[in-house]
Amino acid sequence: MKDMFNDINLNNVNSTNQWAKEHLTELHDRSVVTAQTQTNGRGRLNRSWMDLGEGNLFLTFVLKPDLKYSSHFSNITQYLSVILCRILEKYEVAPQIKWPNDVLVNGKKIAGILAETSMSQNNFNGIVLGIGVNLNAKAESFKSIDKPATALNLEINREINLENFKTELCEEFFGQYDEFMGNGFLFIMDEYIKHACFLNKELTVAQINKNISGTAKGINEHGELVLAQQDKDIILDIGDIL
Ligand code: BTN
Repeated sequence: MKDMFNDINLNNVNSTNQWAKEHLTELHDRSVVTAQTQTNGRGRLNRSWMDLGEGNLFLTFVLKPDLKYSSHFSNITQYLSVILCRILEKYEVAPQIKWPNDVLVNGKKIAGILAETSMSQNNFNGIVLGIGVNLNAKAESFKSIDKPATALNLEINREINLENFKTELCEEFFGQYDEFMGNGFLFIMDEYIKHACFLNKELTVAQINKNISGTAKGINEHGELVLAQQDKDIILDIGDIL
C-alpha cells in the first residue's frame, strides 16, 4: 500500500503547503509531505493554522492531475473532507462537514483543509492540498482560538497514533482518488450531504469582502451552496459559514 504515494517527512517547516509549492517541480505526482511542526501554517481566507504541538497532523498532498479533469479540481477539498469523515468514524466519533470543507466533531472544528493551485506563465504545475487534523492537544490550547475547536484525543479520551492516522488517511484518499477525478463531486455527493450539518439552517456566509445571508437550501451537483433568499436563490462557490 505504501507505494500508492511518495512519502516525504520533514522536521520543521513554515508551512507544508508552502514547502510543497516551492519544491513542486522536483516533487512527483501523489507525493505526501508531512512536518512535525509548522511555524507559519496557512488557513483559508488568509487566516493562519495554529501548531498545537507534537502529535498533530500537518500534511500536504501534491497532485498533478491531467488538465482534462480541471472542472473537478475545485471539489478536491470536499473529497478530502469526506475521506477524513470515513477515517474519523473508525475512531467512533460522528464527524460533520460544514460547507465547504471544515470537519467538525460535536460542533467543534477538528480539521481544516486548504487547496492551492500552482501556476506559472499560465501553465498549470499542480495542486497542493493541505490538511491539518487536531489529533493530540490539550484542552487549554483552544482558549486562544476564536471559534469552537477540538482534537480527537479529547473526544475519545486516548492518545492518537499520528503515524497510523496518517497512513489510514492517505490510503483511503488515494484508494478512490482516480474515481473522484474522473467523476468529480457527483462521486461523493451523497456521502457529503449525509455529513452536512448546515442544511435547512439560516446562515451567513463570509466572503473576502462581503457577507451573504439566507437559508441553506441545498448543495448542487458541483458542490456549491444554494442559499435561498426571500425573492431568489443564490449559488455560492466560495466562502466560510459564520
Ligand atoms: C482552514 O481551515 O483554514 C485550513 C487550514 C489548513 C491547515 C493545513 S496544515 C497543513 C497545510 N499546511 C498549511 O500551511 N496549511 C495546511
